[in-house]
Amino acid sequence: MRIDIVSIFPEFFSVLDVSLVGKARQKGLVSTSVTDLRDFTYDVHRTVDDSPYGGGAGMVMKPEPWGEAIDSIIGDETSAVLVVPSPAGEPFTQAIARELAAEEHLVFACGRYEGIDQRVMDHFGSRIRVRPLSLGDYVLNGGEVATMAFIEAITRLIPGMVGNPESLVEESHEDGLLEYPSYTKPQLWRELEVPEVLRSGNHAAIAAWRREQQIERTKAIRPDLLPE
Ligand code: ADE
Repeated sequence: MRIDIVSIFPEFFSVLDVSLVGKARQKGLVSTSVTDLRDFTYDVHRTVDDSPYGGGAGMVMKPEPWGEAIDSIIGDETSAVLVVPSPAGEPFTQAIARELAAEEHLVFACGRYEGIDQRVMDHFGSRIRVRPLSLGDYVLNGGEVATMAFIEAITRLIPGMVGNPESLVEESHEDGLLEYPSYTKPQLWRELEVPEVLRSGNHAAIAAWRREQQIERTKAIRPDLLPE
């Protein structure tokens, strides 16, 4: 998979070298490239924003640098997906991460301020797929942190990435429920004992207990995830 990121803070993405994403790059499963939006400005101040038409607070990112930056990345490609992090986007989920993990080329457009001129999304929407995605119902200063989260969630699902694929199947959200609680040695720690069933060796009982824990946890913490 090829990942491009456009941002006015390219140095933010130096963390891509570490952790799982760094491993994916070392394994040759993912290549990443960061583009500085300001490289596509031509004034002495390298201006990327301007006041909004219609008035209102804040600034809007100008369309021209975005147009040139994304043109330089996609050329005449039609199969790339342009991901636009935005609090007004579709909520990002494990299902979306799985969908995007199957793509060949993702381009992340990290906007700042009050957003990017809408015509950027409209224009590229006529050439490639555009997906405005939200990390959650809160407002960040820009798309950079959301992009890092999206990339981490997506790249770990690329086949060949995680050592034991079963660990992917059993985690929170993969089956629509929260994960069951996990324990390791010692058996007794600070007067707290590991549940007896997990030490029983009875695999059917363990599976049933874990399922029940998943349902109880989901009911208590995320009832919205449960079917009617
Ligand atoms: N940019 C600002 N807030 C955001 C959010 N919640 N999700 C994605 N991008 C954002």
